[in-house]
This record gives sequence, structure tokens and C-alpha cells, in this order.
Amino acid sequence: MPAAAASKFPLTVTEVAGQPVVELAKKFGTPLFVYDAEIVAERVADLAVFDVVRYAQKACSNLAILDVVRRSGGVVDAVSAGEIQRALAAGFKPGFAEPPQIVYTADIFDRETLELVAKHEIPVNCGSPDMIDQYGAVCPGRGITLRINPGFGHGHSQKTNTGGQQSKHGIWHSQLADCVERAKRSKLSIAGLHMHIGSGTDMEHLSQVCGAMEAAALSVGSSIHSISAGGGLPTPYREGDKKVDIAAYYELWNGVRERLAAAFGHPVSLEIEPGRYLSAEAGSLIAEIRAVKKMGDNLFYVVDAGFNNLARPILYGAYHPMAVAYASGKSEGATQPVIVGGPLCESGDIFTQEDGGYVRSRDLPVAAIGDYVVIGVAGAYGAVMGSNYNSKPLAAEVMVEKGKVHLVRERQTFADIIRGEHIPK
Ligand code: LLP
Repeated sequence: MPAAAASKFPLTVTEVAGQPVVELAKKFGTPLFVYDAEIVAERVADLAVFDVVRYAQKACSNLAILDVVRRSGGVVDAVSAGEIQRALAAGFKPGFAEPPQIVYTADIFDRETLELVAKHEIPVNCGSPDMIDQYGAVCPGRGITLRINPGFGHGHSQKTNTGGQQSKHGIWHSQLADCVERAKRSKLSIAGLHMHIGSGTDMEHLSQVCGAMEAAALSVGSSIHSISAGGGLPTPYREGDKKVDIAAYYELWNGVRERLAAAFGHPVSLEIEPGRYLSAEAGSLIAEIRAVKKMGDNLFYVVDAGFNNLARPILYGAYHPMAVAYASGKSEGATQPVIVGGPLCESGDIFTQEDGGYVRSRDLPVAAIGDYVVIGVAGAYGAVMGSNYNSKPLAAEVMVEKGKVHLVRERQTFADIIRGEHIPK
């Protein structure tokens, strides 16, 4: 495989997903998420060496995105009753076919979800010993998979590290033998194992999972027919970031799979469960500049999107590439250091911040009210983490496919925001 090129993010753009930014903004309003269906499809195809590409839909669960994943040959992970229902609404089939099209992965069953997985025959990936007992009580005889916490983890932020003792996720590795016994008592067979150590991690940490998986699977034995490497594949967010070496990653995991298959005397299917990798680069968030103001030495562009639309900077100090799109259609501009903030009544509503809330300026083109800021790599953990804080509506979302622009989520109305609220009489 040729060495991956370093990523480049332009500071000025006129188009997103091949469509003029100004026209998109005028037609659909701002803030606006724009998804490029082709990029999602390409990312699914990148991973085709794996037997199963299971999209962690929490990254972006718009039905249109799920539909693209399905048409591209991917299947789906669900972490809640709502995500199971989304998967069904997007045309994924329930049931225990190999590979199952929908799998419920979580650390608990709430009552609604337990009912749903029982009724629709949704396979379950148990992330705690209690789930085994609870599932066995309603669905004896079924196969399950276990999510194991291997005792270590890593993520782009401590908040996205899902392994080790400080994490609530998965079954602690040394309790695996006990869980095999629990499963037997509940007449459940352990058909697979799963490990996901964190999100936005790196190859070095991801690779450490291989050894832990091999040992765990050998200890369970030949009931194992599938292993899942989890998600966590990194995505380029900064100028110069390299793409992940999928071929090298696959080789490591394929080695584990082949050794297990040889030990068990039957094939073992190899799954990967990416969220960010499939949708992050496909999405951009367009916001309009509504104020350009000087605060002492600092210059601010205050835009109409805030952390109610993209929470990653305030939550993790996450970096997103940004570009200016000029209302005039001009394609270049001299740069200046600016801080980009949103409209919310909260000082942390700043897109250019680092972990700990430290505000940083960034060189962006000189721009004025009415120009746009396009926040890139916003297709994962963007719209899905949106909120109605400050009574702001959830943003509209459009998807571009084969040169056509489709509105895939209407902007919320005020009536949507207050639906279900009542003043006591
Ligand atoms: N599988 C499991 C069991 C997970 O918990 C997650 C992410 C994934 C797969 C997908 O991880 P990915 O491939 O997207 O890294 N809001 C944070 C990310 C939280 C991820 C939670 N679980 C962010 O914006 O970075």
C-alpha cells in the first residue's frame, strides 16, 4: 500500500460536496450539516477486507446515512432502543442471520430495550455480567457475544477512553470465566467476543487489543465464531494528519483470526465497528458569520452555529478544520488570527479551544458578516450530539448524492422544541 498522503484542509472554499456553499446556505438556511454520500460509501469500501463492517451509528444516525451504509454493504450497531428502531427504519433486517444486520451493544438493558431485542430477535453484545442473566431470563437458547474490557484503553480524550479500571464499559477481562458459567446457566452460547478500547485512538494502542482478544477467545473455546475489533479508527482532523493504514491493521487482526480458526477447527468471522471513520470526513457544518468583533487584542467571528450543533470542541477541546466561504463567491482572502465562537450564552461556546477550555486563535481568511465558516470533518459526533440548549432548533441536514442535494432532516421548528411541555392549569 502506498504511504498515505498528509491531509490538506483549504482555508477558503466555495463548494462543499461539490455544491456551492452560498446556494446551500440560501436554500436551506444555517447552521446546516452537509453530508457527501460518496465519502461514506468510499469509507465502507476501504474496509472491505474485513468480513463485516458494522457501522457504530452513534456517530451519525440520520436515516439517510444509515441507508448509504446499508447500500454500501455495511451492517449496523445499535446502543439503544432508538438506534434499533432507526436501523429497522433504514431497512436493516432483524434476526440471527450471519452476519446479523443489527447488533445491540451496551452495558445495560433498560426495560424497553430488553423487550425490543426479545421481540425483534436482535442479537446482543453484552457489556456487563448482569446483562447475561437478564437476557437469559427472557431469551434462553440464543447466542450472545461478550464485550470485554481488556484492562487497558486509549482515546483522543480521557472522555473517550473505554478501557481500563476507570471505564464503565465491557466485562472486566478476569471475569470472563465466570461469565462463561453464567451464560451456561442461562442456556446462552457465547458465539463471539468484542473489544473496543476507545475512540479516536491510534494504531499502537489499537494493535495491543489483538493479543488480548486472542487470549480471551482461546479461553472461551470453540463456541466462538466471530471476533470484533471494535471501532476507534482515527480520522484526519488537522493539516498533515495521515490516514490510517488499514492494510497493516487488517494483517494484525487477520493473524489473530487465522490462529483462532486453526485452534477451533472452524472459520472465525472478523468484524470491525467504526463510527467516526465512516462518517466524519463526509460531513461539514456551514455557519454564517453574524458578528466580527474585537475584544482587546482578540478578533472574534461569532457565527450562528454553537456547541448545540457541534459539541466536540467544548467537550474534548477537539480540533476541527475550518474554512471561510465568501458570500461573494470569491475564492481567496488574506488571513488573520481569529477566534471562532457561537451564539450561545455561555463563554465555552468557542470552536477554537483546546482541552481545558483554553481559547486559541487560528489563522483564517479576513471575512465579514454574511460570509460563512465551514467547519470540516463534522460528520461524526456532530448532529447526533446536538441539543436544544438556549432553545435553539436542531440544525437542518442535507445529503449530496450523485450531484443531487436532498434535505434529510428538516430544521426543527419552535413547535418541535416545546412539543410535550405543559403549563400546569
Ligand atoms: N464501538 C463501540 C462499542 C463504541 O463505544 C464506539 C464509540 C464505537 C464503536 C465507535 O467509535 P469510533 O470508531 O467512532 O471512534 N463523542 C466522542 C466519541 C464517543 C465514542 C463513543 N463510542 C467524539 O466526538 O469524539
